[in-house]
Amino acid sequence: MKTILYWFSGTGNSLAVAKALAQRLGAEAQLLPMTATMARPEAPTAPAIGLVFPVYAFGPPPVVLEFLRKLPAGRDTYLFAVNTNGGMPGRTGAILRRACAKRGLTLAAGWSVKMPGNAISLYGAPPVQEQQRYFDILPRQVDAIAATVSARQRGPFQDSAAPLSWLLGAIWHLGSPHFARSDKNYFATEACIHCGLCRKICPVANIELEAGRPVWLHHCAACQACIQYCPVEAIQYGKKTIGRKRYRHPQVLADELCTQQAGPRPA
Ligand SMILES: Cc1cc2nc3c(=O)[nH]c(=O)nc-3n(C[C@H](O)[C@H](O)[C@H](O)COP(=O)(O)O)c2cc1C
Repeated sequence: MKTILYWFSGTGNSLAVAKALAQRLGAEAQLLPMTATMARPEAPTAPAIGLVFPVYAFGPPPVVLEFLRKLPAGRDTYLFAVNTNGGMPGRTGAILRRACAKRGLTLAAGWSVKMPGNAISLYGAPPVQEQQRYFDILPRQVDAIAATVSARQRGPFQDSAAPLSWLLGAIWHLGSPHFARSDKNYFATEACIHCGLCRKICPVANIELEAGRPVWLHHCAACQACIQYCPVEAIQYGKKTIGRKRYRHPQVLADELCTQQAGPRPA
């Protein structure tokens, strides 16, 4: 029975997990980027659908909830979620479960996978050895997820433990409406080489180029792809990110992330 894995990813962690899961599920699995699919009149559907995405401020990114609102799924769909995070999933599973219930859908599981953190406004990339530790345990985690999905079983909801998760959920409720305008602190320095990668890699087409340099349009998904993938580190977020180590999943190409943007854009 076919499974579609819809993914959203800023720096490749969630895409790497989605790809590993697709490999385990075999020929029945199809990978599709959420944001590019959202622009289509109707998203493809399947008997089983998985959502793979990062945690933002202890909950799901708003763009994932927007996708879920439009997802062609029904009561019989086997729906599951896998989030990637830097160690604090917060209330992600519970929030998503409630969003599904509002649509009359049942979320069968909400797995949480720890990966290198990418919130560069708060911290730089973790040391390579630490990153490798997360990558080393990933195959076992994905094996377990794939076994549950293949058997169409209900799985765990791996949120942070209560009562901490309640507090974290409140932070998400307060913080997530502000993501769209969180791009107001981005700017490109004189180091910009006008390559336009920032514009191409933005999953929600939130960047235009003016005189070859990026301008942010205030409907940001907060994914950090623009700042993390700038080849010359010309993009900064206020003063905090100057000299801070960038993070990109080592096995994911910028071109793969660029497929998230809907349709071709004029050069
Ligand atoms: C805006 C933002 C908020 C984040 N909030 C959290 C968080 O609340 N808890 C956590 O563990 N990681 C948090 N992270 C880290 C990401 O969830 C983590 O690095 C994820 O694996 C990135 O996936 P991606 O590479 O697919 O974008 C945050 C990252 C960003 C960019």
